[in-house]
Amino acid sequence: MMKILVVYYSMYGHTLKLAQAVAEGASKIPGAEVMLRRVQEFEAVDQIIDQNEAARQVREQQQDIPICTVDDLRSADGVIFGSPTRYGNMTAQMKQLIDSTSSLWLNGEMEGKPAGLFTSTASTHGGQETTLLTMMVPLLYL
Ligand SMILES: Cc1cc2nc3c(=O)[nH]c(=O)nc-3n(C[C@H](O)[C@H](O)[C@H](O)COP(=O)(O)O)c2cc1C
Repeated sequence: MMKILVVYYSMYGHTLKLAQAVAEGASKIPGAEVMLRRVQEFEAVDQIIDQNEAARQVREQQQDIPICTVDDLRSADGVIFGSPTRYGNMTAQMKQLIDSTSSLWLNGEMEGKPAGLFTSTASTHGGQETTLLTMMVPLLYL
């Protein structure tokens, strides 16, 4: 079995939908076992979500999706990361996960693993390309 980790962050549900479609597509590959994981939310953002009906609904929709751990990254044979854009970069929530991977980096545990990326923006030409390019940078080191 080949383990494919699909890990994403989503506040308003667009990246969630993409992640579900990516996971569905990956699960059709013979021999693939797909793990769908969300990224841990920040406490400060959770408090903002409390005040926002649309974001609250999206948070509820994601309750049953497990939060991604470093062990999920370790056990994956390939990883697909999804994040909305924040001015041409990934979200800080996704970056927080990436910044928690020094134990993987120290042992070269992610070396050679294939990776893919997806993003969502509000505007046409809102920064899809720069977001995907900047998301790639840490992966080149990890
Ligand atoms: C702080 C901040 C910065 C953003 N920057 C951009 C941007 O530069 N370009 C853009 O098109 N959308 C931008 N967005 C909008 C989101 O990336 C976009 O709505 C995305 O589809 C939301 O994904 P989600 O529904 O999975 O949360 C920004 C949103 C926030 C909160």
